[in-house]
Amino acid sequence: MKILGISGSPVKGGNNEKAIDYALTRAKSQGFETEKITLAEKEIKSCTACDQCKEKKGTCSINDYMETIRPKLVEADAIIISSPVYFGTLSGQLKCMFDRTLPLRRDSFKLKDKIGAAIAIGRSRNGGQEYTIQTIHIWMHIQGMLVVGDNNHFGGTIVAPFEEDVVGKKTIDDTVDKVCELLKKIKK
Ligand SMILES: Cc1cc2nc3c(=O)[nH]c(=O)nc-3n(C[C@H](O)[C@H](O)[C@H](O)COP(=O)(O)O)c2cc1C
Repeated sequence: MKILGISGSPVKGGNNEKAIDYALTRAKSQGFETEKITLAEKEIKSCTACDQCKEKKGTCSINDYMETIRPKLVEADAIIISSPVYFGTLSGQLKCMFDRTLPLRRDSFKLKDKIGAAIAIGRSRNGGQEYTIQTIHIWMHIQGMLVVGDNNHFGGTIVAPFEEDVVGKKTIDDTVDKVCELLKKIKK
């Protein structure tokens, strides 16, 4: 069973990528196959609402890094997404990625029943991490996914720098464990 981790930050090797590496290392230690995607240095254009994905089911008129991401999303059993908090919500890169998954929804809900979880990282302690997680969860719900938190609250919440946030790391541990437990239950 495969867990895909996506870092939604434009910063290569930054806090979000470290958080995804940390989450996937934990998932791997529990016997899962893992893969990381980073949106840093990748081009993902905005959805233009051209409706090609409606007319020619599942296709997209724009050819960029989404052509690589879409099959990886479909292949995964669970998806963990990390976003930096930008002005209280998710990164623009991640929003573009979400909008460009419309072809998957219009192709018989390709992400339906995959497990989803979120991590949000801000520079401030109450900088919008919860709202950012909620926004990621909304995309997951609209794709028909099974959304989990950290078995306590909403998911992984980190105050940068990642390395120093011991309390925040525990919320990632608990989120990953929840994803792994549920995967084992439903894939029996
Ligand atoms: C445009 C912009 C807006 C930001 N807005 C917030 C914010 O509203 N709340 C917050 O806590 N941090 C905010 N930050 C700080 C980032 O969330 C933080 O630097 C980032 O999560 C670090 O992750 P990274 O190293 O993976 O990029 C902002 C940073 C930028 C560049």
